[in-house]
Amino acid sequence: MEMYKRMIARHISALLDQVGEEEITALLDYPQHAAMGDICLPCFKLSKLYRKSPQHIAEQLTERLSSDMIERVEAVAGYVNIFLNKGKLAKQIIEQILGQADSYGSRNIGQGKTVVIDFSSPNIAKPFHIAHLRSTVIGHSLHRIFSFLGYSSIRINHLGDWGTQFGKLIVAYKLWGDEEQLEKHGIDDLLKLYVKFHEKAEQQASLEDEARQWFVRMEAGDEEALQLWHQFVNISITEFQRIYDLLGVEFDSYAGESFYNDKMEQVVSELEHKQLLEKDEGASLVRLDAYHMPPALILKKDGSSLYHTRDIAAAIYRKSTYNFEKAIYVTDYAQNLHFQQWFKVIELMGYEWHRDLLHVAFGRVSLEGMGLSTRKGNVIKLEDVLMQAIAKTKDIIEARNPSLNDKDKVAKEVGVGAVIFNDLSSSRIKDIVFTWEDSLNFEGETGPYVQYAHARASNVLKKATQKLGQEGVVLDGGLAMLTDDASIQVIKQLAQFTEKVELAMHKLEPSIISRYAIDLAQSFNQFYHHNPILNAQDEVRQARLALVKAVQITLRNALYLIGLAAPEEM
Ligand code: ARG
Repeated sequence: MEMYKRMIARHISALLDQVGEEEITALLDYPQHAAMGDICLPCFKLSKLYRKSPQHIAEQLTERLSSDMIERVEAVAGYVNIFLNKGKLAKQIIEQILGQADSYGSRNIGQGKTVVIDFSSPNIAKPFHIAHLRSTVIGHSLHRIFSFLGYSSIRINHLGDWGTQFGKLIVAYKLWGDEEQLEKHGIDDLLKLYVKFHEKAEQQASLEDEARQWFVRMEAGDEEALQLWHQFVNISITEFQRIYDLLGVEFDSYAGESFYNDKMEQVVSELEHKQLLEKDEGASLVRLDAYHMPPALILKKDGSSLYHTRDIAAAIYRKSTYNFEKAIYVTDYAQNLHFQQWFKVIELMGYEWHRDLLHVAFGRVSLEGMGLSTRKGNVIKLEDVLMQAIAKTKDIIEARNPSLNDKDKVAKEVGVGAVIFNDLSSSRIKDIVFTWEDSLNFEGETGPYVQYAHARASNVLKKATQKLGQEGVVLDGGLAMLTDDASIQVIKQLAQFTEKVELAMHKLEPSIISRYAIDLAQSFNQFYHHNPILNAQDEVRQARLALVKAVQITLRNALYLIGLAAPEEM
């Protein structure tokens, strides 16, 4: 619809002498109800400028506004309501979608620009938490959105693979660990060791000192320490990889926190040089009192680095390596302060690009009311959640469509899709609750619902080819005949896809795409109920089939952008 907005803005600004096209475009809106037109111009701001009543301005514009794309114009209560020529709209939009196919909705606005997206970033030796899942699906979707808009987008998994906790693990492993157990139980075993360490350390404080020493040895490059650490890392990554495979997520870089080990000295001396570093009881920190924040800790008493230190080193490294236009960090909002603090440190260091650092924060996920905390070892494993989703979906499919081929593949695409979609279904900052009933409901506002609409469209097209043969399905016909309310509703939504993709990018908000996909699927289902397709008379059938094809393409592209597969049958 953006192009119609621009076309109308051009006409209107030509009628007004003080207001430019851009300003009018920004004022134009989509009315809530079809009875109020397809696009409208509220005249309240113009009223102040021209010192005339909004209705007076609306009437004057209404008299003079005309174009062959416009069917009629009305002035109502200070609004100019513009009704587009439906036949022309239908023809233009559908031809555009069928022509562009997989690239419908994409643009080149990011050409030559790079974004780096730091997402997922689970912690080694700890289970993949449900918050990491949300980070993974939001980050992955942002990656696809940016790429679709022409950016080069770098996916970074900033693994939590460095820090004092590895000293603790080494101590625990040396005391109570066992090679065989570790091979067999992987992260579960590491988690047990970690929990045991904390229990024991409560009585025996010397354990903490030992752990600190081991971490200092790691930072100094001690061979034994690093060899054990390596083992923990490898075991963890193997487990994470299984989840990424299920989700269909890949990364360009697994440079985790440890990668910056040899880049931190430089940061520390730069901070010193810029006189930002202060000593406080042996530790080094950057004071942020002036900005109403607690200090950013840079070095502990024993000289070891911290989470902040590694993020600062990583940002400087990424700027020089990728020369990003934006660096995005996807974590839950519990880390808001952490990011505000070190973004401020980057600013104080004098780096202009501190403005390009963006924290994309999201809300908590709970499973049917239960928190999913990893404390006390009482964990719900994410891999189990995904496997259960697949199994439950298989049961549903078995009942709905027993003759379906390739049930396992479809169950995986739909089950995993349901979990992903649930994470993206409301604006990211909101806390969400995961329930099986809601996420897997084929009739609710869910991933399966959108996938099902896509499968329905694919099925109609397949049947048409079976019935009429390849040549029988000519996807043009009288597109201009698609003027009934249900068809026009779908067409107007199809026309909005490109702007939704851009909006999702600007707001860093994949839920804009998932919401859009739901709306489009709903109006497509309305269309489907009101309009016979295969039994319609020739030209009408062809036009309707073309519309179905346009919906299929657009739903598939939307699903792709949020990281869901689009099975043709389900
Ligand atoms: N590993 C961290 C965690 O699990 C998330 C890291 C986010 N990225 C970053 N550059 N700090 O909480």
